Amino acid sequence: MRLEQSHRTERFGAVRIHELQRVIQLDSGDAPGTGSDGVVSHAAIRAIERELVVVIPCMNETRRVIEGVLSGIPHDCLIVLVSNSARQPVDRYEIEMQTVEQFCRAAERPAITVHQRDPGLAAAMKAAGMPELIDDDGLVRSGKGEAMLIGMAVAALTGRKYLGYIDADNYVPGSVHEYVKVYAAGLHLAANPYAMVRISWHSKPKLRDGRLFFNRRGRSSEITNSFLNRLIAEYSGFGTEVIATGNAGEHALSLELGLRMRLAGGFAVEPFEYLDLFEQFGGVLDAAHPEVMATSVPVLQIETRNPHFHDNKGEEHVQGMRMQALNVLYHSPISLPAVREAILEFMVAQGVLAPGQEPPHERIYPPVGSLALDLLRDVLEAEAGGFRVFGTGALAARASLPHSVL
Ligand code: GDD
Repeated sequence: MRLEQSHRTERFGAVRIHELQRVIQLDSGDAPGTGSDGVVSHAAIRAIERELVVVIPCMNETRRVIEGVLSGIPHDCLIVLVSNSARQPVDRYEIEMQTVEQFCRAAERPAITVHQRDPGLAAAMKAAGMPELIDDDGLVRSGKGEAMLIGMAVAALTGRKYLGYIDADNYVPGSVHEYVKVYAAGLHLAANPYAMVRISWHSKPKLRDGRLFFNRRGRSSEITNSFLNRLIAEYSGFGTEVIATGNAGEHALSLELGLRMRLAGGFAVEPFEYLDLFEQFGGVLDAAHPEVMATSVPVLQIETRNPHFHDNKGEEHVQGMRMQALNVLYHSPISLPAVREAILEFMVAQGVLAPGQEPPHERIYPPVGSLALDLLRDVLEAEAGGFRVFGTGALAARASLPHSVL
C-alpha cells in the first residue's frame, strides 16, 4: 500500500495529529518501503495483521451484510463480534453466532463472539473491576461505546498488540478490506507503541433524483470536527482544520495506548477519544503516564478510496450522535470558555437546548487497563453462555495475559 506522505502535524502536548493522508495505491507492488516514502510492504502489513484484533460492534444488522463484513477482514486478523442484537422474539444473536461459526469453518480461522447483555458478561466485568458499566437491570449498558469497551477487554485476553473497529452495517466488503489494510499500514508507519489510526472515508453515496451522489463528509463529522479544531485553535492561537476524523467509527490503535484510555458511552465514544488523549497527554492537566509523554502519541488520519456505503438510520440518529459529541466536549476539563459558549449557542440554535440549560453529561468509563484480566476471563468462561470462541488459538495462554498497565 502507498499512502500520501505526511509532512504536517499539529501538536497538542504529546499528541501529534497528522494531517489527512490519502491512499495513493491500494497495492504498491514489491517495493519494500523506506518508512518515509509512504510505502508499506505486504510483509509489513501482514506482520501487523497477525497482531490485530478486529472488533465488530453489531446491533440487529442483517445476516448477509454481516457475512460480507466478515469476508472483507484479512485472514490473519482475529475477529471479535460484540453483539447487542435482539434475542426475542427471534434470537438474532443465535443467527449471528451461526454465521460466524460457518464463516470460521469455511475460512479456517478462529473468532470470538459475545453478547453485550449476557448476564455472565456483566458478572465478569463487575468481578474484573468495572461496576460502572452495569445498569439497573444488572446487565452491561447498551451503547456503541460500551460495545467497543467490551471488545477492547476481549482483545486484551488474546495477547495481540493492536485493535481495530469495523461497523457491522457496511455493505461493501472491499471497503472493509481496505480499512483493515489501512489500519495495518498506518500502525506500521507510526512506528510507536502508543499509536492511533483513524479513517476518513472518501465519500458516502446517496441516491438523489435517481442518480448516485457521492457526499464527501458525514453530517455529524462536520460539526464535531469544527468544534474539536476550535478547541485546538483556542490553545494554540492559530486556526486549524487538522482534525478530519472526530467521529471516525473506523479506527485502530495499539492496545498499549487503548488500555490507558478512558472510553465514553454511546456515540460519544469516538470524539471523546480525542478529548481523552488531550486530557491525559496534552500537557494541560497532570499526566499519569510519563512513559507515554516521553514517547508521544501519533494520530494518523487516512482518507480511504472505497465509498462508505452503510445502513442509513435517519436524521434523528445523526442529530443524537452530533449532540453526544458536543456534550463530552462541553464538559471536558480542558474545554475553554469560548468553546463552551460556542457549543451552547449551537445547541440552542438547533433547538436541542433551552437558553440557560447545560448539556447533559455522557458516561465516561475507567480504562480497560485497570481490569483484572484473569478474573474477567475466569468469569466469562464460567458464566457467560454467549461468550463463544470458535476455532483454536484465539485466546492467549493464561500465564501470558498482560498485567494491569495502570
Ligand atoms: N454491540 C453494539 N451495541 N453495537 C451497536 C450498538 C450497541 O449498543 N449501537 C450500534 N451498534 C453497531 C451497529 O450495529 C453498527 O454496526 C455500528 O455499531 C454503528 O452503529 P450505527 O447506529 O449504524 O451508527 P452509524 O452508522 O450511523 O454511525 C457510524 O459512523 C459514525 C461516523 O460516520 C458509527 O460508527 C459512529 O460511531 C460514527 O461516529
